[in-house]
Parts: sequence; C-alpha cells; structure tokens
Amino acid sequence: MDLQDRLEAYAASDIYPMHMPGHKRNTTLCSMPNPYALDVTEVEGTDNLYEPEEILRSMQQRAAALWGALDSFVLINGSSGGLLAAIRAVAAPGETVLIARNCHQSVYHGVMVGGLCPVYLQPEVLPSFQICGAVTKEQVKAAFLAHPGIRAVVITSPTYEGICSDIGAIADVVHHYGAVLIVDEAHGAHLGFSDAFPPSAVRLGADIVVQSLHKNLPVFTQCAILHRTSDRVSSAAIRRNLRIFGSSSPSYLLMASADRCFTLLSKQKDALFSAYSAWLDRFYAGAVSLRHLRLLTPADCASPFDRGKLYISCRGTSIDGAALAKRLREDYRIEMEMATVDAVLAMTSIADTDEGFDRLLSALLEIDRTLHTEPVQNTISFTLPEMAVAPSVAERMPHEPVSAEEAAGMVCGELIRMYPPGIPVFVPGEVLEREKLCYLQDAAKRGLTVIGSEGNFPQTVLICKND
Ligand SMILES: Cc1ncc(COP(=O)(O)O)c(C=O)c1O
Repeated sequence: MDLQDRLEAYAASDIYPMHMPGHKRNTTLCSMPNPYALDVTEVEGTDNLYEPEEILRSMQQRAAALWGALDSFVLINGSSGGLLAAIRAVAAPGETVLIARNCHQSVYHGVMVGGLCPVYLQPEVLPSFQICGAVTKEQVKAAFLAHPGIRAVVITSPTYEGICSDIGAIADVVHHYGAVLIVDEAHGAHLGFSDAFPPSAVRLGADIVVQSLHKNLPVFTQCAILHRTSDRVSSAAIRRNLRIFGSSSPSYLLMASADRCFTLLSKQKDALFSAYSAWLDRFYAGAVSLRHLRLLTPADCASPFDRGKLYISCRGTSIDGAALAKRLREDYRIEMEMATVDAVLAMTSIADTDEGFDRLLSALLEIDRTLHTEPVQNTISFTLPEMAVAPSVAERMPHEPVSAEEAAGMVCGELIRMYPPGIPVFVPGEVLEREKLCYLQDAAKRGLTVIGSEGNFPQTVLICKND
C-alpha cells in the first residue's frame, strides 16, 4: 500500500473530519478534475507568483479587496512560510522582538533564522480551562517599558481554541513605540466575512496578518495568505522574503484552490456563513446539556471568541483528552483536530454539514453520560522559563542527549512541543524545569505527540554542552 492508497482508504471510510483542511473533503462545495490534468508550471498564460502580472496578480488583488488589505500574497508553504518571511522583513539580526509565548513554532523558527533577541509575554490564562486567553494592551505596554528597542510584536489571534485579542488597542500601543505588529491569524482566515464571528486583524490596525487559508476555508492544505495592512512595512521587503522562504515552483493546484475559494466568498459568503452560524448556534445550545464535559463558550472569555473552534474540556472528569479522541474515533467515527491532556478540539468551517455537527453533539452527550467527576491529574504551569542563552545561539551549540529525568536545571538544546498545537514548551537556550518535563512525559505516556528536534523525547532531551 502506498500513500495514495492510504488516502483513498481514508476518504472512502465513514470517518467525519472535525479537522483541517477546511474544505472537509466536501465535494459538493469544492471540486476539481483529475489534478494531474491541471498541474502545470510557469508557462505562457499561467503567470508567475513572484512576478505576477496577469492572472495571479488579479487573484491577489481580489484577495486584498475581499479582506481589505493593501496587498495580499498567496503562500504555498503555509502560514509557517508567511511568518518566517514577515518576521525577517521587519527585524534585522540582533534586534528585539516581543513574542506572545503561545505563538506557534514557526515564530520561534523565525527568531532563530533571523538571529533575533526575543522577549516574551505570557497571555492571561483561563483558570478553569487552563488555556491561554488574550494578550492585553497593558501587557504589551509593560513589555515596551521594560525592553526599550522592541522592533516588532508577534501575537496569535485567534488562538487554536478561538480566543482573540484586542488587536486595535494593542496596535495603538505598538505604533506609539514605533514598532510593527504582526498578527498570526493562522486560525482566522474565515474572520471578517460575517458578524457572527469576530472581525479580522486585517481591519483592526495590525501591520501584517498571516492566515492559513487551508485551516478554516475550503482550500487545499499548505495554502495560506499574507496581508500587508499598513505602510509601516514595505511591499518590497515582503516580496524579497517570500522568495527566500517560498518554493520557486509554487503549485498551481494550490493557488487554483485559493482563487476558487475567493470566488466562492465573493459570490456566496452570506449564505455560507449564515448556514454555518446556524449550525454552531444549534451545537452550542445542545452542548448546554453536558454535565461533565465542558464546551468553551463566548461567556468564558473576556475577549472576542471564534465559535468555530469547538474546544471540549474533559478536565476533572474520568476521561482524558487522548481517550476521548479515541472514543470519538472508534465508537462514533469522528476524527478530531487535536487532543491535549484534558481536552479535544474540533475545527469547523463553512464546508461542514448538519450531519457532522449532529454526529459530534450526540456523541459527546452520550459519552458525557458515562463519565463522572475525578480530581485533576496533570496541570501545566504557564510560568515563562528562564532564558540562559539566546535561541539562535543555543540551537547551533554542540548538544548531547540526557535522560529526561536528569535534564532539569540544564540548558535545553531543542524546541520541545506537543503537536498539535506546536507551541513550544521549551525553546533552545531555556533552562529545563522539572515540573514541565514531568508534564510532557505524562502527556507522552497518555499517547499524545510530544516532539523535540531529534524525535527522542521523552526518553532523552538534547541539552547544550558547556565546552
Ligand atoms: C497559531 C499557528 N500559527 C501558524 C501555524 C502554521 O500554519 P501552517 O500549517 O499553515 O504552516 C499553525 C499551525 O498549526 C498555528 O497553529
């Protein structure tokens, strides 16, 4: 069996995808003839993504008009590529960037590649769900006061779980100090098209906004978009960096699926988003009957919330996130986007169906009836680790593996994260804390994916050698 056989078997199965890509394999909404028939390169009439003059230029102009950006750049290597380019476009080696600690690994890769000096801020934590909430303007202001010279600020909004920050207020602070605001809106490409969802950062004062089209819209995997939304950043700097980080052979299939989505949004956004919003209303109304599992709702967040992320906490119940995801898969044929120690997350989109939402809700209600309350077993601490060495230096130092049990107090040589969500718990150069190491070891034992650079966690951790 090769990979295509495996994909065909998955597509033919009765599994409902509560995960990305956002097209949900819904071939009523999106379709394409045999992809081999359309897969071409730069030939007469197909234009060039990096020097667009014709069809790809009008594709990007249509996108800019849809979202309200100055320029929009379609990306074929995800928000990861867009964030690398955005960060390198605004900060030179040695400059300081302020990063919300719950940013995706690609932001940290941007720091390492660019030889930047990061300072971190820890977003507020929602105590009863133990997840990161919004970044506040007060936190950003305090960081500028403590670290004069911050060149750029990177925050994630919405978070994987759907929590948005007050981008307008944060942008005012960032601009007051002469810096640039990059918003990682990887999980928010669908924002701005309906009042039922928070507005997009594109229209709220950010300078660069990066979105994964493939996560929340009906677009092929890897397709993303970078919006330049102010003149504080030059279009030329972005173009230069997109060429550095992007493939020189961008896939026309990916770009075509993005452009088809722009057409769909231009013509049918009202109908699609009102149906989507009505499904979500029904889901949230039905989930009120859950007695043990808890759905994160707008009422739990002080800031705007994207209801399209269905974050279901099983914290303090007799099931953990890994087991809940397994039961949903095996007994109800639903594949979730993410499982954590104490939650599962469904990623939904306009391409979902009534049947999908109904199946998930009835499965959760049925499982909930079999659960009881139990003491919470494992909680991660959100304290910021101590940075002993800059990440770009630590990443290149000689490393050696030590057992996870012995590693506490040593300087980490690799980026360690649970995947998903891909948010680093330790970054190269940080002092390894016992409590967090234990949390990660426990998560790995539960069957969740915890990865470092070499793939040996939790047996060993790469630490920086002193000599
Ligand atoms: C917050 C966040 N930013 C960026 C990315 C990277 O997006 P992509 O997979 O499109 O490269 C992810 C991926 O999960 C993410 O969760």
